[in-house]
Amino acid sequence: MGTSTTVSSALLTRFQAVRSLTDSLSEPLCAEDQVVQSMPDASPTKWHRAHTTWFFETFVLPRRSGGHAPFHPAYGYLFNSYYEAVGARHARNERGLLSRPTVDEVAAYRRHIDTAVGDLLTGEPLDDATATLIELGINHEQQHQELLLMDIKHLLAQNPLRPEYAEPWQQPSSTEPPPLQWHEHDGGIVPVGHQGEGFAFDNESPRHDVLLAPFRLADRLTTCGEWIEFIDDGGYERAELWLSDGWARRCDEQWDAPLYWHREDEHWRVFTLRGDRPVNPAEPVCHVSFFEADAYARWAGARLPHEAEWETVAVEQLDAGPLEGHFLDDGPYHPTAASSTWRHHPVRQLFGDVWEFTSSPYIGYPGFSPAAGAVGEYNGKFMSGQMVLRGGCCVTPWNHIRPTYRNFFPPHSRWQFGGVRLASDDD
Ligand SMILES: [Fe+2]
Repeated sequence: MGTSTTVSSALLTRFQAVRSLTDSLSEPLCAEDQVVQSMPDASPTKWHRAHTTWFFETFVLPRRSGGHAPFHPAYGYLFNSYYEAVGARHARNERGLLSRPTVDEVAAYRRHIDTAVGDLLTGEPLDDATATLIELGINHEQQHQELLLMDIKHLLAQNPLRPEYAEPWQQPSSTEPPPLQWHEHDGGIVPVGHQGEGFAFDNESPRHDVLLAPFRLADRLTTCGEWIEFIDDGGYERAELWLSDGWARRCDEQWDAPLYWHREDEHWRVFTLRGDRPVNPAEPVCHVSFFEADAYARWAGARLPHEAEWETVAVEQLDAGPLEGHFLDDGPYHPTAASSTWRHHPVRQLFGDVWEFTSSPYIGYPGFSPAAGAVGEYNGKFMSGQMVLRGGCCVTPWNHIRPTYRNFFPPHSRWQFGGVRLASDDD
């Protein structure tokens, strides 16, 4: 079955908007910024720009009736991330050594592929499978927009000059968080996972039932002020609060505060994409690992939510009103205090601000099977040794998130915008 002209036109509009946003996110960066790789997990901006383009060139354009001649014979090798089915690739930890192609050449690559995808969307009738792959490419690029900002933040933070990605944010943020209250839920047998017509990644399916005991979910995120209490109470020195692997990692890497925090004259400061500034005690704590989140929850006499608990509350909230949250489109590039957020819902900050750690390991839902072919490598092969995070963050595009969305990171990772929402058993 073919896709209608209206659908193709809507897809083209979204394709162009997403591609243009990636370019605008790169604009504040000079060529030198865009080339360097600060650690194996983080990729250079130039690589993100080229790799997202490669995705469309590799998975979409060969489906054109006349086929597709590669833009450059080496780009398939340079910009394939992890797709074994597509062939060999440049080492992930050596992406920062690619001084060529230049930033300008990558920009030309982007323009060329944009034109080709535009021609495809306005020319011949589109088959459903191709439309689905373009949709996947759009969502893939949105994931890389967030990665681009996470990775450039990590790079800029290594520089003693403390360079700003953008001007300091001028809108005042409250310094007094509302008191934490508990949202009670009866539990029961609840449906979990994606259903319906809209886009979702394969890891959000199949939809299935989960049995939940009655539970309580914090009505806001854990704040920096609460995290300072944890630090001051010896949270980073007390092994009994930590999982064994977490304690080992804390010792090896000498964690004593969230990533990007540093102490100056007895006061905590934080490096943000909008410069180095004092920690605001009312803002959600950010850039902690799962191990730290878990230790904090134990210290607080609580626990992290199961992903099904989080999703159940999020779905009920969206059934009752609009999606609220602070996202990439809002502009601070940093989480915002709860007291300045909208208050249409009983549980604040579920979406945006920080990715919320859950206690759930990232595994396939019952009956999960990856898609056939190379795109089946997108999510399924990473279902080992990682934890699920929910809700999106302050550098997630607002139209990229859903209540069923499952992000995942290793339990020691700190450079993603990860934060904490407490849960507890209802007793
Ligand atoms: Fe990718």
